[in-house]
Amino acid sequence: MVVMILVTGATGTIGSDVVRRLVARGEKVRALTREPGRAQLPPGVEAVRGHHRDLDSVASAMAGADAAFLVGVFGPEDADSDRGMVAAGVRRVVKLSAISAGDPRTGLGGIAHGHGEEAVRESGLEWVILRPSAFASNTLGWAEAVRAGTPVPNMLGEGRQGVVDPRDVAEIAVAALVGPGHVGRTYTLTGPETPSPQDQAATLGEVLGRRVELRGLTPPETRELLVASGWSEESAEGMLRSVRFVAEGGNAVVTGDVEEVLGRPPRTYREWARDHREAFGRG
Ligand SMILES: NC(=O)c1ccc[n+]([C@@H]2O[C@H](COP(=O)([O-])OP(=O)(O)OC[C@H]3O[C@@H](n4cnc5c(N)ncnc54)[C@H](OP(=O)(O)O)[C@@H]3O)[C@@H](O)[C@H]2O)c1
Repeated sequence: MVVMILVTGATGTIGSDVVRRLVARGEKVRALTREPGRAQLPPGVEAVRGHHRDLDSVASAMAGADAAFLVGVFGPEDADSDRGMVAAGVRRVVKLSAISAGDPRTGLGGIAHGHGEEAVRESGLEWVILRPSAFASNTLGWAEAVRAGTPVPNMLGEGRQGVVDPRDVAEIAVAALVGPGHVGRTYTLTGPETPSPQDQAATLGEVLGRRVELRGLTPPETRELLVASGWSEESAEGMLRSVRFVAEGGNAVVTGDVEEVLGRPPRTYREWARDHREAFGRG
């Protein structure tokens, strides 16, 4: 029986929803965060200060936990982060990885996830790996431009992706953490279709009742934008590689894994857009 579950990345896109869903099921949850004082967590969740690369903080957070949700790769500097986290040892780990993890064409983040997956598989623990495609919520990055009525910068060309709703990813993470039948599985999580950025803009525009325009960025413009928003040159270079992979159709993949686990089809991008329309300036 699961007694307590540690969620890392607990204030983020997937982790916060994993926390909410675990709490709703009545599970006992501990949340790892760099700033417990600022973390907005449901009542009853124990917030502990830590960082996935500070292994002492991870070891203390894992003490007494039975299962852990691992969000341990934010860039090339995290190639060994999952190895550190699994060394702390719990009965079961569920790693949030990424589609095409380990494929060098997906850039340095993809390579780091490949190392992380290796560590998880070699850990001797019960493990489950989740490899989501692009999150539907990435288009929240469009919100400021959409609200202002200006074109949204688009670095992905017409690259199609099996865009997945983060709620589906979180629901599967919970099943993997507490349910039977998932240990040793690697799930590739996609939505039901492969929209291009132009398709997503058209869908979002329909949902909002106004036009959403994109402005294509060249690779040098993309690099400039990333560096200006605080990315290191190395990370920006890695990101450009993964952008090229997507733009060339490398991520135009749909799988049946969400339906296999949840017993229903994955949510569409349109559903996500309808449920988040307020973020774009229309309630
Ligand atoms: N976005 C996508 O389309 C996509 C697709 C496939 C896979 N993924 C993978 O999903 C993971 C990210 O999941 P997510 O979007 O749920 O996470 P997130 O929202 O970006 O971050 C989760 C939490 O981790 C902490 N955090 C953020 N950046 C950090 C950093 N650089 N160093 C240390 N802590 C940091 C923050 O918590 P505190 O401030 O509370 O500490 C944050 O709330 C990554 O491994 C990514 O490769 C993403």
